[in-house]
Amino acid sequence: MAFGNLGQKFTALEIYDLVRKDLEKVEKEIGLESISSVEAVTYISQYLQTGGGKRLRPILVLLCGKLFGPANDSLARMAAVVEMIHSATLVHDDVIDLAKTRRGRPTINVVWGNHMSVLAGDWLYMQAFQVALRERRFEILDILIELTQRMVEGELLQLDRIGKIAVNETEYMELIDRKTASLFAACARLGAVCGGATEEQERRLGEYAWNLGIAFQQIDDILDFTSREKILGKPVGNDLREGKVTLPLIYALERAEPEERKLVETVLADGNYDQVPFSKILHVLNKYNAIEWAQKQALGYTEKARRIIGEFPESPFQRALVSVTNLVTDRDH
Ligand code: IPE
Ligand code: IPE
Ligand code: MG
Ligand code: MG
Repeated sequence: MAFGNLGQKFTALEIYDLVRKDLEKVEKEIGLESISSVEAVTYISQYLQTGGGKRLRPILVLLCGKLFGPANDSLARMAAVVEMIHSATLVHDDVIDLAKTRRGRPTINVVWGNHMSVLAGDWLYMQAFQVALRERRFEILDILIELTQRMVEGELLQLDRIGKIAVNETEYMELIDRKTASLFAACARLGAVCGGATEEQERRLGEYAWNLGIAFQQIDDILDFTSREKILGKPVGNDLREGKVTLPLIYALERAEPEERKLVETVLADGNYDQVPFSKILHVLNKYNAIEWAQKQALGYTEKARRIIGEFPESPFQRALVSVTNLVTDRDH
């Protein structure tokens, strides 16, 4: 397949084509590692694997690794590991958030209940670590253990702030750094380690992916206001209903009149849009151009990511990593 001229953007399909064969291996690996002697765990793992999902994190591992040469088995294995960790965090996240829908289907907690979901999430975490352990490399375990702790810290910080209107931008950034950007950074670093990068290259790729991850979560939080459930695969207006005050709202609240603040407080207190319809919240956001402002913040982070990846030698994989930054900000789900 042709990849156009130097500097030309890749489409999502072209990026996918660059790692298609490797992703098939990754899916096979995930499938093999999803089998437990307890039937329910196997069902849950298979439900997760067949439920769709963009596979952005494994793609990141693969592209970063392939910057340094052809993919090896370790790279595909690490790509499987990060998707398993991602799945485990989503299972736990949906229990905590009382989420009913993900990837257009009922969540694991709706189908199997909270107790089973927590245990299945734990099982998946440990299965991911077991696969990673086969590499017998301490630097890989270092990355994964630090990552898992940071993600849990992110969820804990979020829990502490649930229902609170007084969240500022610094606190928001602390949270998304942990719950989302840390996983993106770990993906890039694992790819670099398996690909044979130098420590400096690993560090720079980690920074690239961290910026990408920050933008990714900011866009996720914007889409929660602007998208539609059919496209997103999860309900809109959900964050505020769940008690989460995210970036666009933080910006609007800093400027809002007391009665506009009251609208947000009401939804936070009620946990629904019965008294204050979602359209009223959107109206407040629009009044202060909060969505546009938040989009600009995300674009700032992808710009930074592009600058960093631009330091790497030009190759199809390097160009794909450049193009991923545009896909993150242009996406609709
Ligand atoms: C969802 O991640 C969790 C966030 C960090 C917002 P994705 O949007 O990548 O989820 P899937 O895997 O594609 O469903
Ligand atoms: C991201 O947080 C989930 C994790 C990083 C574990 P959200 O709560 O915003 O994710 P969604 O919106 O449920 O996918
Ligand atoms: Mg959630
Ligand atoms: Mg969200």
